[in-house]
Amino acid sequence: MHSAPIWDPQQYLRHSTHRTRPFLDLLARIPELPAAARGRSPRIADLGCGPGNVTALLAERWPGARITGFDLSPEMLEQAKTHYAGSTDGGGWLDFRPADAAHWTPDEPYDLIISNAALQWVPNHPESFPDWTEGLAPGGTLAFQVPANFTAPSHALLGELCETPQWRARLTGHGRRFVHILDAADYLTRLADLGLDVDVWETVYSQLLQGEDPVLDWVKGTALRPVITALDGDDEAVGEFLAQYRDLLRKAYPPGPHGTVFPFRRVFAVATRTREATG
Ligand SMILES: C[S@@+](CC[C@H](N)C(=O)[O-])C[C@H]1O[C@@H](n2cnc3c(N)ncnc32)[C@H](O)[C@@H]1O
Repeated sequence: MHSAPIWDPQQYLRHSTHRTRPFLDLLARIPELPAAARGRSPRIADLGCGPGNVTALLAERWPGARITGFDLSPEMLEQAKTHYAGSTDGGGWLDFRPADAAHWTPDEPYDLIISNAALQWVPNHPESFPDWTEGLAPGGTLAFQVPANFTAPSHALLGELCETPQWRARLTGHGRRFVHILDAADYLTRLADLGLDVDVWETVYSQLLQGEDPVLDWVKGTALRPVITALDGDDEAVGEFLAQYRDLLRKAYPPGPHGTVFPFRRVFAVATRTREATG
């Protein structure tokens, strides 16, 4: 049984510009929320909210909204609470609470349930779609974005290195713990089967990263968390693993004249409950 990875908000935030862009692209496709249209304050859940910086962008779009970010990581929640919790200029508020998205169910009607770059960590999350849909107010939206980059060299090499004879005993499975997503077409079918109006798409971002070993630096904030957690404070082993992985990444992503190009595929879904389906 794997323990939950320990997150490092500062490491994660080092690439916040590239990491925020898909959230903005997701946000741009979310229709007006039903509460906002009726002059009530919208209720929003952000599942796997992380350090809270993208949760705060929800308050910029819906200043009067009551927004709760849910996350499993005490480190991420602490960062989010410190920087973003409290009332907002538009009369709404932001708060952050511990919750496992694998078991989270809405406790009141939500205008928006959103999740950015988190559901890949939640096995069987599609099985929660019926409950989440049930928890949407009529006209409410379920919206998420998941990375779909698991066959890219960055992630494939990590998985392979964990399974080599040197590391297998301590790290087997840790390089592939995040592969819990469906194909875009499968998300579309599952959500449409629930009677939702669905918009699903994929985007490959050609991210230009700067600095030495930037892909390693990127992955240290996410896919490497389970590996670093599993090596459990053994700094020598962490150093050796990172050096081996770094050498593989240097070959897979050589720097170019403008920096290192790190292509990254992501799947997006925006699914809206029809206003007539009041149940
Ligand atoms: C890559 S970060 C994304 C954070 C934020 N949504 C963003 O877009 O910047 C993934 C987050 O998902 C959280 N997470 C992973 N598994 C989770 C689960 N089962 N329930 C709730 N949060 C989870 C992690 O703690 C982490 O904060």
